[in-house]
Amino acid sequence: MLEIIEESASYLRSIIRSKPETAIILGSGLGELVDHIEDKQEISYEEIPNFPVSTVEGHSGKLILGKLGGKEILAMQGRFHYYEGYNMKKVTFPVRVMKALGIKNLFVSNAAGGMNPDFVVGDVMIITDHINLFPEHPLRGKNFSELGPRFPDMSDAYSKEFIRMAEKTAAENHILIQKGVYVGTQGPTYETPAEYKYFRVTGGDAVGMSTVPEVIVARHCGMNVFAVSVITDMWYEGNPVKVSHEEVIEAANSAQPKMTLIMTELLKQLQ
Ligand code: HPA
Repeated sequence: MLEIIEESASYLRSIIRSKPETAIILGSGLGELVDHIEDKQEISYEEIPNFPVSTVEGHSGKLILGKLGGKEILAMQGRFHYYEGYNMKKVTFPVRVMKALGIKNLFVSNAAGGMNPDFVVGDVMIITDHINLFPEHPLRGKNFSELGPRFPDMSDAYSKEFIRMAEKTAAENHILIQKGVYVGTQGPTYETPAEYKYFRVTGGDAVGMSTVPEVIVARHCGMNVFAVSVITDMWYEGNPVKVSHEEVIEAANSAQPKMTLIMTELLKQLQ
């Protein structure tokens, strides 16, 4: 595993022109942020040795390096979902490569279903914690102590400092921001009304099919994490809604300027 990571990282090192310390994983319908990146260098996943190739609609599958908020960044447009059939090592492989490239901060975004009745479609929710319901754990199997500890602490997975900075930025820009717990499920089905209710009762504010594996691996290797959900559909008790992928993408598209602004402002404030 270590050699495979190093092979991908050394290929990237040989072609990239910058040394980013922050990486951003963009969720479904949340690719607009890349239009704001300056001095772009794009690398298609197919080009990178050992990289999986993404298949889902709404994703194009490339790394985009450049500057945002005055900082060098590496953005991942198109992530690997467990429901596509990748195992968890593949889903989280890009995070391992990021670490090998010297990335210290990971920003993650996703489209998610809202369960907190105070939310509305189009809200941006800062993730304060998660509930991992994926059937496979990304750290299952041999632990490489070069990468991180066998039993990583998860009491502080989402940086309190980043959360505080994001809340301040949102307030200064008159953006209503939500905060809450993200429930990570394998998909690809959206929830049944009973499942939504169950996730809500057990402490969830939003539910989606990504993010948790990447965050676990990022924390395992010591990165600081900031993550947001864009609420693309809402479930209300007694009023189950039909969810379609098209609506999710459309709602994500319309909410993304808020997310872009928050991430850009956070980058400006990084040391
Ligand atoms: N459930 C799970 N994943 C999602 C949803 C949802 O309602 N919306 C967007 N991704």
